[in-house]
Amino acid sequence: MPFKIIVIAALAAALAGCGSKSTRSASSGEDVFASAGCANCHTLKAAGANGRVGPDLDQLKPTAAVVTRQVENGGGGMPAFKGTLTAAQIKAVANYVAANAGK
Ligand code: HEC
Repeated sequence: MPFKIIVIAALAAALAGCGSKSTRSASSGEDVFASAGCANCHTLKAAGANGRVGPDLDQLKPTAAVVTRQVENGGGGMPAFKGTLTAAQIKAVANYVAANAGK
C-alpha cells in the first residue's frame, strides 16, 4: 500500500478517535496517547500500541523535549496537535513516552 494511503487511513482513524475525546477528558499521558491517536501510527509496547506509520517509539526512545516538539508542530506526515491538545496534555504525553519507550 502506498505510504500516502496509509497516512490518510491512519489520520481518519486518529480523527475518529478525536471525536470520542469530548465525552472523556484525557488527562494522564497514557490516556492522551490512546485518545489522541498516537497509537494508530506508532509502536509503544507499554501502551499496547503497534502502529507502523511513524517511527517505532520503543526503538527511537525520544526525550520528552523531542516528543513535545514533534507533537506541537507535527511534520513528516504527522499532524500537529497544538490546536487539539492542551499544553498540559502535550507535557503529559511527552513525559509518558519518554519514560516508557523501550520498556
Ligand atoms: C497520522 C499518523 C501519526 C499520528 C496520529 C502521530 N504520529 Fe508521531 N509521527 C508520525 C510520522 C509519520 C512521524 C515521522 C516524522 C518524520 O519523519 O519527520 C512521526 C514522528 C514522531 C516522533 C519522532 C520525532 C523525532 O524528532 O524523531 C515522535 C516522538 C512522535 N511522532 C510522537 C507522537 C505522539 C506522542 C503522538 C500522539 C500525540 C503522535 N506521534 C501521533 C505519524 C504520526
